Amino acid sequence: MNLRTPGPIPVPDEILNAMSKPMSNHRGPEFKKTLYKVTDQLQQVFSTNSDIFILTSSGTGAMEAAIVNTLSSGDKVVCATIGNFGDRFGQIAKNFGAQVNMLRFDEGKAVEIDSLRKSLVADSNIKAVLVTHNETNTGVTNDLESISKVVKGEFDKLLLVDGISSLCSVPLKTDDWGCDVVISASQKGWMLPPGLAFISFSERAWKAHSESNMPKFYFDLAQYRKYFEIGQPPYTPGLSVIYALDLALDAILNEGMEKIFNRHAQIGKFTRSSIRSLGLSVFPQEDIASNTVTAVKSPENLDVTKLIARLRDVDNIILAGGYGELKDKIFRIGHMGYTQKSDIQEVIEALRGTLPKLGFSIPTEKIQPA
Ligand SMILES: Cc1ncc(COP(=O)(O)O)c(C=O)c1O
Repeated sequence: MNLRTPGPIPVPDEILNAMSKPMSNHRGPEFKKTLYKVTDQLQQVFSTNSDIFILTSSGTGAMEAAIVNTLSSGDKVVCATIGNFGDRFGQIAKNFGAQVNMLRFDEGKAVEIDSLRKSLVADSNIKAVLVTHNETNTGVTNDLESISKVVKGEFDKLLLVDGISSLCSVPLKTDDWGCDVVISASQKGWMLPPGLAFISFSERAWKAHSESNMPKFYFDLAQYRKYFEIGQPPYTPGLSVIYALDLALDAILNEGMEKIFNRHAQIGKFTRSSIRSLGLSVFPQEDIASNTVTAVKSPENLDVTKLIARLRDVDNIILAGGYGELKDKIFRIGHMGYTQKSDIQEVIEALRGTLPKLGFSIPTEKIQPA
């Protein structure tokens, strides 16, 4: 099977096998060693000296943790959203009682820096800005460095970043860009099964934590910090996925972050040009298109559900559709982790065979992918 959803992604056998190790005592000396080792390695990938905690949850749990550990009910925040996952970040803050200004940009577009600046000028009581680095539903990567220059450099607000589908695949410099909280999840570029989420937490975030009154228990990071001192997680962790994380981080740091970023940039470009060679269009503009997931505009009258089902049933290729307003308007090809050109070529050839059967004619003049 060629699993090309934007998470979960294929996990190398060696990493999968690490999960079959016998269970151990998560309050024993062996686990303590592993916890300290992987935390140090996570700091390298996050490019931060801040605290990092491993949560046994999906990415949404870490989104909730980012909110409830820094904010109080009634706090004013700007949620700069470019799609479904950005909306979710704002919705979580609302559910916990924050006053959220949803600064929404059209799907397929990135955050406009000037509009963000205006929203912060308009209300000096804004405490934090929430932003998604890579919007997985639209295949757009925000210019986080420029966003941070405004949020931190010009206004000195708390910056909470959903880096779930960007970290470990595209550059995200947590400390250099002044990100107070950054989150990610294991089923994305980390090449791991789902089940773990990671959260970095700056000194400034800890200050906010000391003032925060949003309800929290399982995700209260003060507990994680307290237990980390003695080399333990506060609650029973997803041990098997942590065994896999241990191995994956060795492989990631052995390869080196620059190489990983370059690999993703190349496979992203290759995917987009291959899509165009079929006469299809990539949903966002090239300069903001994501290198972890490509959103493809569905041609008029193409039944996306049928396309995805045929690719699954006939070609054994699993693509994702769009959510919300983008349902039936796009389909998505994931290319996080160790995606090879041959994985993408297989998708392209399957599309070349299937699209005409569903009424879309592919230009005969074959445009070679760059
Ligand atoms: C950018 C982004 N944010 C949040 C989430 C939610 O993560 P999870 O499904 O692990 O809760 C996802 C998952 O695809 C995502 O891509």
